[in-house]
Amino acid sequence: MEQKDIVVLSFESSCDETACAIVKNGREVLSSVIATQIDIHKRFGGVVPEIASRNHIDAISNVVSEALDKAHLTLDDIDLVSATYGPGLVGALLVGLSFGKSLAWTIKKPFLGVHHIEGHIAANYITHKDLEPPYICLVVSGGHSNLVYVKNYTEFEILGRTRDDAVGEAFDKVSRVIGLEYPGGPKIDKLAKEGHPSYKLPETFFEDSLDFSFSGIKTAVINLVHKEGENINVPDLCASFEKAVTDVLLSNLLKACKMKNTNKVALAGGVSANSYIRATLDQMGKENNLKIYYPELVYCTDNAAMIGAAAYYDYLAGKTSDLDLNAVPYLKLGDKLRK
Ligand code: KG4
Ligand code: ZN
Repeated sequence: MEQKDIVVLSFESSCDETACAIVKNGREVLSSVIATQIDIHKRFGGVVPEIASRNHIDAISNVVSEALDKAHLTLDDIDLVSATYGPGLVGALLVGLSFGKSLAWTIKKPFLGVHHIEGHIAANYITHKDLEPPYICLVVSGGHSNLVYVKNYTEFEILGRTRDDAVGEAFDKVSRVIGLEYPGGPKIDKLAKEGHPSYKLPETFFEDSLDFSFSGIKTAVINLVHKEGENINVPDLCASFEKAVTDVLLSNLLKACKMKNTNKVALAGGVSANSYIRATLDQMGKENNLKIYYPELVYCTDNAAMIGAAAYYDYLAGKTSDLDLNAVPYLKLGDKLRK
């Protein structure tokens, strides 16, 4: 018997994007609307939590109407409502989560709270209709750096995590010190293309662990900028920074593949948009016979379609959340607070 289609309306508001999407059967995006606050936070050099919350409140009704309009659907067509409940900025999370729970209650449909990182991983299902677990996923974003074994659609094993800064955080801090605007990742990506990795930066590896550390690389860049002053070659510095970070990320990724005896790998999160990381991984893939998956650029950074994709698989596994589900700012991957 054919399975009934499941149409999920999803929210993402964990940081500085207010997003709403409608996704069918976990893989087909009917609409995805993202109201970004980047221009508002730029002048502060990073996201200001209180300002983010207020702007989410202003934007949220509009993004829902737009998502429904673009998909040519009404609320009657929705089978499940979902929203990110953690990790993220608590005030920001609460806006999408409260709106989502209220909407589910109003239209008498089930609600499901989604883990933001599980969402980033699920972004790959939208782009790659053939991708199925198990595989290794390297999740690299502004707030997280995790090496994850995706056992199945709803079970995740963390093989390595950052012990200090997240990769995106290091990109953003380095960019600030060289005078680039927030968010620095895309700007470093662009400038690095004009440079060569001529500066030697420290690369941290741990014995018997696939954990990461990026604060050493970041501090070395900051010290170099202070020491060299105006003589610093910015494109070379960007290329050197990207190379150091990429060496560490991809060498642990390869070790994880060997450990789990798999050649299937996916990237996820804002930093997975980085062109040097992608090119280097492609090369490494050829040398090591890896099958590599990346989300489309628009689904690398925060969006609600990835939350709808993750929600679909949780729902298929029989999960829903109670309407008293609270935001959990420091939610860890693998923590299952919902019933
Ligand atoms: O996934 P995301 O939108 O938000 C979090 O969940 O944190 O990731 C945002 C991060 C920022 O740190 C941004 O600088 C970084 O992703 N980023 C990049 C690139 N595009 C975005 N980093 C390196 N290269 C890029 N092309
Ligand atoms: Zn994110």
